[in-house]
Amino acid sequence: MKILLLGGRGMLGSDCKEVLGEEYEIVAPEKKELDIISWDKVIEALQAVKPDIVLNCAAFTDVDACEKESFKVRKVNVEGPRNLAQGSARFNCKMIHISSDYVFDGRKIPPQPYFEDDTMSPISSYGQSKMESEVAVKENAPNYVIIRTGWLYGIHGNNFVRSILKNTLRNKKKTLKVVDDQMGSPTWTRRLALQIRELISKDALGTFHATAEGYCNRYRFAEHVFRKLKLKISLQPCTMEKLGQSAKRPKNCILENRLLKKQGLNVMVDWQKDLDTFLGQFGDGLVKKARAGSL
Ligand SMILES: NC(=O)c1ccc[n+]([C@@H]2O[C@H](COP(=O)([O-])OP(=O)(O)OC[C@H]3O[C@@H](n4cnc5c(N)ncnc54)[C@H](OP(=O)(O)O)[C@@H]3O)[C@@H](O)[C@H]2O)c1
Repeated sequence: MKILLLGGRGMLGSDCKEVLGEEYEIVAPEKKELDIISWDKVIEALQAVKPDIVLNCAAFTDVDACEKESFKVRKVNVEGPRNLAQGSARFNCKMIHISSDYVFDGRKIPPQPYFEDDTMSPISSYGQSKMESEVAVKENAPNYVIIRTGWLYGIHGNNFVRSILKNTLRNKKKTLKVVDDQMGSPTWTRRLALQIRELISKDALGTFHATAEGYCNRYRFAEHVFRKLKLKISLQPCTMEKLGQSAKRPKNCILENRLLKKQGLNVMVDWQKDLDTFLGQFGDGLVKKARAGSL
């Protein structure tokens, strides 16, 4: 089986390349070789590679920048997936597309989770684009898997774990402000790649939620990281409103993996278990790099 992977240099894409590469043939062109906003390039690649599956991990993921760059966000996050979905239909392959917890408004009271069939109601430009990407995939790809996930961290890209280490250790800061009014499930990209492998091997189709089990707020997430790495950083709780980011973010990002469980496909585990494994494997290296200013 052959997979055409888009976004293979990104945080999730890199882990997918590694995990799925153990079983499948992966072709992962870089953005400069295959920009998904170009219909011609997409068709050219599908013709040349003839994949069984198109796996789209490519996206414009800077949530705050998306508020200002409305043209780019539409192009990359909506027209790109539409090109891939229409191309998948033409070349008769399955499309797997990654979506986000930010398609919801987060108004449910935690710990009530969001389910796959809850109404999407995004409150940011990024969330809006991910919702429209889902519609584009559903309307155009006859065989599709949409995976909604959230709070991703991993060894390869920019993420919360890296940024809290960078912000404190590089500047020898002893305190850090972290929001305590956003709840979600920190999810390791490697675990999500294993979940994608499971969905492929069982030939599943449809829209699935896939985040780690359990939940916490950002403050607890940061606290867990610093405690595990034995770093003495004192945390100051703050609200998202006080932090003053450009994009609004949902307060409740808890997703229930209901369909994965119903179909016996859920390989996601408790967030703390995966975070401990990740930090055990990569924590010392990340701390060293952060202190050296090279993270
Ligand atoms: N990060 C999270 O917490 C999170 C949460 C929920 C959902 N998601 C979704 O999960 C997926 C993966 O996210 P991630 O955090 O791994 O993303 P990421 O690290 O930002 O990687 C995105 C990748 O997309 C590529 N890309 C951007 N524009 C492209 C274009 N026009 N054509 C081709 N490739 C393009 C980038 O290429 P370059 O490296 O060359 O720029 C990069 O490799 C995305 O769909 C995202 O919306 C992420």
